[in-house]
Formats: sequence, C-alpha cells, structure tokens
Amino acid sequence: MRNHRATLARVAIAAALCGAAGAAAQDKIKVGFMLPYTGTYAALGTAIENGFRLYVQEQGGKLGGRELEYFKVDDESEPSKAVDNMNKLVKRDNVDVVVGTVHSGVVMAMAKVAKDTNTLLVIPNAGAGAVTGPMCAPNIFRSSFSNWQPGYAMGKVAGERGAKKVVTITWKYAAGDESVEGFKEGLKASGGEVIKDLTLPFPNVEFQALLTDIAASKPDAVYAFFAGGGAVKFVKDYAAAGLNRTIPLYGPGFLTDGTLEAQGAAAQGMLTTLHYADGLDVAKDKVFRADYHKAYNMAPDVYAVQGYDAAQMLAAGLGAVKGDVHKRNELVAAIETARIDSPRGAFTLSKSHNPVQDIYLRKVVGTENRYEGVAAKALADPARGCAMK
Ligand code: BEZ
Repeated sequence: MRNHRATLARVAIAAALCGAAGAAAQDKIKVGFMLPYTGTYAALGTAIENGFRLYVQEQGGKLGGRELEYFKVDDESEPSKAVDNMNKLVKRDNVDVVVGTVHSGVVMAMAKVAKDTNTLLVIPNAGAGAVTGPMCAPNIFRSSFSNWQPGYAMGKVAGERGAKKVVTITWKYAAGDESVEGFKEGLKASGGEVIKDLTLPFPNVEFQALLTDIAASKPDAVYAFFAGGGAVKFVKDYAAAGLNRTIPLYGPGFLTDGTLEAQGAAAQGMLTTLHYADGLDVAKDKVFRADYHKAYNMAPDVYAVQGYDAAQMLAAGLGAVKGDVHKRNELVAAIETARIDSPRGAFTLSKSHNPVQDIYLRKVVGTENRYEGVAAKALADPARGCAMK
C-alpha cells in the first residue's frame, strides 16, 4: 500500500513537472524595448518600435513559434540613467532580449550590463564603435550601422566633389566624434582635409555662434552630425544664416532622415550618405513601405527599417531554435549566418555582429532622400579592437 502511494505521488509530481514544462514552452518571449520616447530622439525611438512590431505582426504575432510580450523603458537618451534603466528590463522584468537603443552613450552602458548578465541585446540604431569593437560579444548584435560607416562614405564623396577644406560640426559625444572620424578618413583618401572641428554638448541647439565661426572660416564644405529634433533645427538655422547658398552642407543621412517635413525648403538639394534611401529598387522595400504606410499612416524612415530588421534578426535566431531561448549557442549561430532580407537591400553580419552593407548617396528632393547611387559598396566597419574578428 505504502509503495503504491509513493508510486502515485511520483507519477503526480512527474505529471505536474511535465505540465509546467509544457506551459513554459508556450510562455511568451519577453522583449524589452529600451528606447528614447522623449527628448530630441523621441521620434527615432517610436519609429524603431513601429518597425519591430510591424515585422512581428507580419509573422502572425509570433517569432520561432512563440508569441511576444513587450516591456518598455524610456531611456531619455540619458547615459547616466542607462544602467538603472537596463536593470529594470533585465532584473525586474526578466526579459529574454533587449532591443535598444538610439544614443551611443546610452548603448555603451547597456552593452556592459548585457555582457555582465549575458542578456541578448539587439541594437536597432546606436552606432558606437565600442559595442562592435572592444566590447563586442556573442550576445550583442546590431541591425543598424557603425558611426564610422556613413561618415567614411560621405568623406569620400565630399573629396571627390572637390571639397579640399572642410569644417565639421557635431554634438560632443561618441556618435558625433566617431562620425567625424569616419568622415576624415574618407575625405583624406579622396584628397581633402578638415580644417576645424566645432562641437556643442548634446542635445544643445544654440548654433548661432558656431554658424558665425563657419562663415568666417570660409570652408569648401561643412560636415554635420545631428539627428532628430536637433537636425531639424540645425539645417533650418544653417539656411536661415544664408550659408547653404555658398557652402554645401554634407552629413550622414541622419541629418535629413525622418526630418524633411519639418526642414522644408532649408534641406532642398542636400547630399547625404546612409544605408537607406527613398526610391530604392529593392522588392522588399516596396512591400515594406506599403505595409508601414498602411499600419502607421506615414512613410517609414531609416529608423523604422532598423527596427524591422532587428525583429528579422531575432526571428532568424528564434526560428532556428524553435523559440527555445535557452539554446543560446544555436540561436547566436543562426543570427550570425543569416542573410537579412532588408528593405535597405539584403545584408549579412560581420564577425563583430555589425551589418556589412551598401551606403547610398542621397539627394533631398521635396520630402524625399532620393537615391542617387552607391557611395560605398558592401562596406564593413573596421571593428577595431574586437576579439571575435
Ligand atoms: C547615436 O547616438 O549613435 C546616433 C543617434 C542618432 C542617429 C545616429 C546615431
């Protein structure tokens, strides 16, 4: 009798455990969005989330056979709050993957937490060289660009167009510094040089004194890194000062992406370089643009594409392990070897987990960053200092 009861108890426990495992297999995958929802980069954060959700909706709401549950933190593009914000998602909400963020200073703190806790991190914008350089890691991927990539391409184009002496202007933080470094490298390779670097603190938009300095320096061209609300103000102030009539304003495409309605006449004719453009002859892009417009009643920008592709990368990993996030090695290997069918054109990832991609030359016409040609073909970030290379 006693033995019989013990057997029944064991069977009951086994059945309960089986039930728990079955339930666990059906649990939703927890995705944490750590993005700016306020401040100068707010629109960028929203576009990234929109793009990510669009791809998931197209898959019937599931990746790797499992539904997703979303958790959100507004990182305010504030590096000093980044560790606490990341811990809210990782330790409080216990997410399986973090998708974030926009700002390079914030992402470096996120990458440190991701490394320490072995949390899967997919970066849908921030181009900080460190996270796919010295801090590169198996659990950290980027669906966007490194700050160096569009900067380098624009430097080459500017030099080829005869810019011998150039002034640069940017917010003083990793993204601006690295974008300018890339630009200098490209410019030098095509025969030009930077004669002055101007900076102001992020997210300051008091440009007047710096515009006076530019006018006095009489360069052949200006290279500027700004994005979001700051880019709108800079391009308008540059035109209001009359500088756009005599000194071409170049930049990475963030200067005019998602901003053209607000910049209006001030941006017309500007040339920028980026891994996305309006009017690409890419089949995936045509479907993406139609779907995005239907879902959100607006045209997508580069940030929406990067959010969409962050979801595609995650789908590649989760699909390979049928949603079992604990099979981390297989999941990582599947993302590493995936060919992402992006609206920007298909891309693969470098050993350091950064997209290897074409960088386009674009020209502002109306409210479009119109495709002009390829400025740099299959450009890979140098990934200096990454031990996974
Ligand atoms: C960055 O901080 O890395 C960044 C922000 C906006 C646009 C591009 C790069």
